[in-house]
Amino acid sequence: MSSDILKVLYSQDDIHAITARLGAELKHDYAGKNPLVVCILKGAIMFMTDLVREIDDYMELDFMDVSSYGDATESSGEVKIIKDLDASVKDRDILIVEDIVDTGRTLKYLTDIFKTRHAKSVRICALMDKPEGRVVDVHADYVGTTVPNEFVVGYGLDYAERYRNLPYIGVLKPEIYAAKS
Ligand code: PRP
Ligand code: MN
Ligand code: MG
Repeated sequence: MSSDILKVLYSQDDIHAITARLGAELKHDYAGKNPLVVCILKGAIMFMTDLVREIDDYMELDFMDVSSYGDATESSGEVKIIKDLDASVKDRDILIVEDIVDTGRTLKYLTDIFKTRHAKSVRICALMDKPEGRVVDVHADYVGTTVPNEFVVGYGLDYAERYRNLPYIGVLKPEIYAAKS
């Protein structure tokens, strides 16, 4: 299946350099705060687990599953909660961990919800930012890397639920989409 990949954008080493840098920054910024770190399933699973292992400090981990894309490569514009958090966000410092900010709809929806629920603070840590895709005004406080307007897969990111398990981030061959549609 790695023959489905046109090119590798970020290798395992590239990704590790990013998580180490962001982890050091977060350890500094959240010292003494015991943040609630929220992984947005499923895309952020790999990034979140690598990121928190760079931070030897108190924190709590929770998971929320929201979906907007379905099996398509473009956002439907709809965000729905598939699984909510277990913990209360009230008076907590919330760090949302996302794999990618594209249109921004997912993160806009989440930051609005957490503010409504009276979080003390809400910040976003995104592995990748795709500024060209932005439809709503949202920005990540911590960004691993900025990516071009290409559909990326691997390291948690899927196309039709495939490729999440790849240890690197790459671009799919165009014929893979063509075969599907
Ligand atoms: C993808 C990605 C982000 C979101 C970004 O998730 O993981 O969560 O879309 O797009 P946006 O900025 O346009 O909202 P998806 O909804 O595909 O669910 P998944 O993480 O389970 O793959
Ligand atoms: Mn996602
Ligand atoms: Mg997806």
